Amino acid sequence: LAVYLNDYQPPAFVVESLELDFDLAAAATEVTTRMAVRRNPEAVEPDAPLRMYGDGVELVSFTVDGAKPAEGLLEQDAEGLLLHGLPEAARLEIVSRCHPEQNTQLEGLYASSGNLCTQCEPEGFRRITFFPDRPDVLTTYRVRLEADRVQYPVLLANGNRVEAGELDGGRHYAVWEDPFLKPSYLFALVAGDLACQRDTFTTMSGREVQLELYVEAHNADRCDHALASLKRAMRFDEEAFGREYDLDVYMIVAVDDFNMGAMENKGLNLFNAKYVLASPDTATDDDFVAIESVIAHEYFHNWSGNRVTCRDWFQLSLKEGLTVFRDQEFTTDCTLFGVKRIDDVAMLRAFQFPEDAGPLAHPVRPDHYAEINNFYTLTVYEKGAELIRMLRTLIGRETFRRGLDVYFERFDGQAVTTDDFVAVMAEVSGRNLTPFKRWYTQAGTPRVTAATSFDGPGGQARITLTQETPPTPGQEHKEPVVIPMRVAFLDAEGRRITAHQKGGEVQDEWVLELSEGEQTFRFEELSDSPTAISWLRGFSAPVILNANQGVDELAHLLAYDDDAFARWEAAQTLFRRAIRSRIEHDAADTALEAAIEHALAALLRDDAIEPVLLATILQLPPTRELAELFERVDPVRLRNERDDLEKRLYMPLTDAMQQIQPKLDDVDNGAFTAEAMGRRQLRNRLLALRVAARDQAAVPEALAQYQKARSQTMRMGALNAVNELDHEARQVLLADFEKRYRDDPLVLDKYFGLQAGSQVAGGFERLDALLEHPGFRWTNPNRVRAVLGPFMARNERHFHQDDGEGYRRMGGFVEKLDAMNPQTAARLAQPLTRWRKVDTGRGEQMRAELERLAALEVSRDLRDVIERALA
Ligand code: ARG
Ligand code: ZN
Repeated sequence: LAVYLNDYQPPAFVVESLELDFDLAAAATEVTTRMAVRRNPEAVEPDAPLRMYGDGVELVSFTVDGAKPAEGLLEQDAEGLLLHGLPEAARLEIVSRCHPEQNTQLEGLYASSGNLCTQCEPEGFRRITFFPDRPDVLTTYRVRLEADRVQYPVLLANGNRVEAGELDGGRHYAVWEDPFLKPSYLFALVAGDLACQRDTFTTMSGREVQLELYVEAHNADRCDHALASLKRAMRFDEEAFGREYDLDVYMIVAVDDFNMGAMENKGLNLFNAKYVLASPDTATDDDFVAIESVIAHEYFHNWSGNRVTCRDWFQLSLKEGLTVFRDQEFTTDCTLFGVKRIDDVAMLRAFQFPEDAGPLAHPVRPDHYAEINNFYTLTVYEKGAELIRMLRTLIGRETFRRGLDVYFERFDGQAVTTDDFVAVMAEVSGRNLTPFKRWYTQAGTPRVTAATSFDGPGGQARITLTQETPPTPGQEHKEPVVIPMRVAFLDAEGRRITAHQKGGEVQDEWVLELSEGEQTFRFEELSDSPTAISWLRGFSAPVILNANQGVDELAHLLAYDDDAFARWEAAQTLFRRAIRSRIEHDAADTALEAAIEHALAALLRDDAIEPVLLATILQLPPTRELAELFERVDPVRLRNERDDLEKRLYMPLTDAMQQIQPKLDDVDNGAFTAEAMGRRQLRNRLLALRVAARDQAAVPEALAQYQKARSQTMRMGALNAVNELDHEARQVLLADFEKRYRDDPLVLDKYFGLQAGSQVAGGFERLDALLEHPGFRWTNPNRVRAVLGPFMARNERHFHQDDGEGYRRMGGFVEKLDAMNPQTAARLAQPLTRWRKVDTGRGEQMRAELERLAALEVSRDLRDVIERALA
């Protein structure tokens, strides 16, 4: 029952205007939908019926131009309603009913903490009323909300409030109008008892916008950071992209029960409370950064998503890839030293590369799907953002910026495609970008090999690049893609060497464009002979590079490269090589490991390196990324080797790490600058590495840090450091933490994560205890993810326990959750789908658990994931 891109047809009818009247109550809400429809001149069939989708909605009454439709003209089927025999234009009135309180899927209209709210993307609107719920049906909305005044004093919808008043029987109402055309997935309403924090923003053209942040009253003191972030994002979008806000009010509502991070509904964003609420006592620096980034992401959608939207859901990356790119640019602007880029690459490697190499691999623009909710993926979002970044690299920053202006201007108020986007970039740059479009249609991570040859000082250099993309499900054969490879040659002091390409200017950095299977690039008159080559600078393309560099060359890059990514990457390559050797040759490469230790020692002595960069470089890759180095691997062994390597490398360096620490004694100072956060990050990283390296002094220091901490960052830093220790200190701190935050759900999630993610013996008993904890609820996605997520992601010892207990437990939980919330269940099932990458004994048990689930009656969401995993 898949949907295919090639079957796309324009809608048979356009909706000229829409009025929605809500009679709101948690048990049953009645919706009156009035719409003016007209035949779409672009429709393929001139007399096609009107399709209105409905999912779990009761039909109460239906009229066309004031009368009941004649016998046989209104057809109800599994997808909703089909209305035949409509004239050129008609007015429809539909009364329907839905049941918010019973809605545990959290799509459509649902109840959360006694309030009512909505989530419509991608196909939630059809769970509220019958409607042509597809993103290319755009119209203007007038929404009337009526509800009990005491229970729901706040009534919000998209746009501007044009009317409000009291009614008999303790009820009241509000009317909202949104002047902008929008698709139904951007509809939102909120009814509840909420406190409002206000601020204002003056746009670049001088208009004052009211900013309103709605939260439960007890959270009113945790809103400052979100509001400040919003203002920074609004300013940034004006300055960096020339985009101004368009309504008089911008509202954000924090909701406890939410499937995703947040939702960009026009003028009324709904947020997972996790991405709004922050105070130094409850949120870590990472939380502060994540909040700022999600606030910005949803705000940026106002242009990339709302003003210009997607024609169909295959185009999801049109808005998501572009908006992730935009929020990454914003965070880069707020961060220091290129570390944002490193963090993004680390995330891509740990999550998107495995997705692209596994059974769920799909192109950035998929060409079919069984359940669209399963395509809100790292590929569509993060790889999608990489494609945008590559386009900018290829056509140049200024041309790209001009292209964006043209794109927003030309398609304002329309629903378009990724092809439309690329066509604009081709037009403004005068380049043929057709070959580039393969990035959108071809799944899999390209592998690039680089080889070089030199011919003496002052001489010539040749770089030969080859590429190959491995097959992915449904795509056996791959074509070459256009890969921008940014490179520089470094001399013995780490300075860039100049040279020119035939007929080109003298430069010290190049973007080589690899568009064929193999290409050679020549450089002439090198100013010196290179000691090292800095490859893929800034991670200029989402590829796996093999440049066959020697240990000395990598150490040179690690010591000197002025590109933060390339410097970090040199260390990563060394770490990966050491792990590979341990797994493949069953023994440590002692010479290699000594060289790494030596390079790390030099780095720890380097006074010039920025603390945040040092903290980032010192960290070994996570197991899930390392697993990609192997065809199949025993994850427990891999984790042990990784941890052992970390221990061996840092044991001889504990003195060096201790010596840095006094310089970081003042970090818990309440400052939230990038610099202050970077220094805290280094302080916590050093503490964790010293504990991992069995530095005897480190555990009492962690205890002291926890006791003295004035911020959540330092408290979590101490907890993280001891979380893998089978030591009393761990239990003491965790017990204290639980007691302190037991009534604070978002902080309690951190406790759940620490307990579930720890490999300390007794993981299943801890898991049982967490699920019995009074703060745990199966109906809340944050709680469920906080427990099951880290258990599967970081607790290899238990999740991959060789008797299969971990798989059976998780399978059982997925089954249980699926009955309430299919979307979140399908996501949590994903670690099980990686069975082919796990050593055969375990892999077969993972597969068996998937097969057990496949034999049950599960949701379409979960079935889609399982079937692709078993195919
Ligand atoms: N558009 C939202 C965002 O990127 C995500 C909404 C996803 N919703 C879903 N049900 N899959 O911020
Ligand atoms: Zn988004």
